[in-house]
Amino acid sequence: MNPLLATLQPYPFERLKQLFAGVTPHPAYRPISLGIGEPKHPTPEFIKQALNAALYDPASDLTAYPPTAGTPKLRQAFAGWLQARYALAVDAATQVLPVNGSREALFAFAQTVVDPTRAGATVVCPNPFYQIYEGAALLSGAQPYYAPSDPARNFAVDWDRVPAEVWARTQLLFVCSPGNPTGAVMPLAEWEKLFALSDRHGFVIASDECYSEIYFRDEPPLGGLEAAAKLGRKDLRNLVSFTSLSKRSNVPGLRSGFVAGDAALLKAFLLYRTYHGSAMSPAVQAASIAAWGDERHVVENRAMYREKFAQVTPVLARVLDVALPDAGFYLWAGVRGSDTEFARELLAQYNVTVLPGSYLARETQGANPGAQRIRMALVAETAECLEAAQRIVQFVTSKA
Ligand SMILES: Cc1ncc(COP(=O)(O)O)c(C=O)c1O
Repeated sequence: MNPLLATLQPYPFERLKQLFAGVTPHPAYRPISLGIGEPKHPTPEFIKQALNAALYDPASDLTAYPPTAGTPKLRQAFAGWLQARYALAVDAATQVLPVNGSREALFAFAQTVVDPTRAGATVVCPNPFYQIYEGAALLSGAQPYYAPSDPARNFAVDWDRVPAEVWARTQLLFVCSPGNPTGAVMPLAEWEKLFALSDRHGFVIASDECYSEIYFRDEPPLGGLEAAAKLGRKDLRNLVSFTSLSKRSNVPGLRSGFVAGDAALLKAFLLYRTYHGSAMSPAVQAASIAAWGDERHVVENRAMYREKFAQVTPVLARVLDVALPDAGFYLWAGVRGSDTEFARELLAQYNVTVLPGSYLARETQGANPGAQRIRMALVAETAECLEAAQRIVQFVTSKA
C-alpha cells in the first residue's frame, strides 16, 4: 500500500458521525442539517435539457472518447465567461482546461506541481480550510504548512506570519477566496503580496474560487486572474484559478468546472490528466457550455441566497458572534465554548446539525483557529434555515 495514505486525516463528516454516535435527537423536532455544504436550490431546467439533448446529438453522443482538453467550443465557453466576468482575455487554446469539478482538479494539480524529491517540499494552505488541500499536499509527498489566520479579520490568512524559511521551501500555495468556511474575499493588496512572494520563491499559486458567484456586497469578488491582470501580470505566471459550476449553477452532481491561468502549468496539467484519465463526458460538456453561457439563473440564485442570509443572519446574531460574510453560503460563527459540545447538544436537544469549526482547521502553536466556532451552510430553503436559526436561539438562550 502507498504509505502516504496513512497520513490522511479523517474527513470532517466522518468525525461528525463519531461525535454524534449514541446521540438521540429530540423526537419533537424534524431534522434540519446546516452541516454539509452542498447546494440545495433546484438545478435550472435548461441545464438538464442540454444534458439530455446531448445524448441524442451525434456531435456529442457517447460513442467516442472525449479529448481531455475538451472541445474548442467548451474552451471558448470558459474564455467567454472569463471575459464577461473579469474582463480577462485568455487564450482558449492554451490557458483553460475542463475539470470534473474543482475538487478532483485541486487534488490532481498538487500531484502535477509538487516535486517531492526537493528537500522540505512544502504546500501552504489557509487554516481553517477545505480539507482536500491537505490531502493533496500529503499524497504529493509534500508537507502541508497551515498559515496562521487572524480572528480580528474574520479569520483571513495572515500571510506576514508565515516564516521566510517556510516560503523558501514552498512549492505550492492554496488560496481560497471567497473562503470556505469564512466567506472572506481577498483584496488586491493581498494578491500583490502573494505575487511578490511567488516571484521571489518560485512557488505556484492555486486559487480556489468556487464560491465566486454567491456574494452579498455590491462588488463581485475579485478573482485571482483578475488581480494578476490588474497588476500587469499578463502572462498569469505561476497562477492557476479553479472555478466550478457546482455552486454557481446548483449542479454539484454534474461534476463540472474549469481551470485557467499560466499556459506552461496547464500544459503539464493536461499531460498529467491525460494519463490520469480525467476527460469530461461529451454530454456534461454540452450542459456546461449552456450553463457558462447563461447569467440569468446565476443572478436569481444569488438573489435567493441574499434573501436567505438577510433573514437568517440577524436572528443568529442575537445569540452568536456572527456577521454577514463577503461571499459563499456559510456562516462562520463564534459559540463562546466548546464547538464540539455545542454541535452535539444542539443535535440532541433541537435536531439541528452544524459542523464544529475545529474539524475544519488544524492546531498550530497550541491553538486550533476553528475551536469555539461552528460552520452553518445555509443551503436549504429560507423557511427551513430560519427554523434552524430559531431553534439555535432557543438552545443558546436556554443554556445561558
Ligand atoms: C472550498 C471548496 N473548494 C472546492 C470544492 C469542490 O467543489 P466541486 O468539486 O463541486 O467543484 C468545495 C466543495 O464544497 C469547496 O468548499
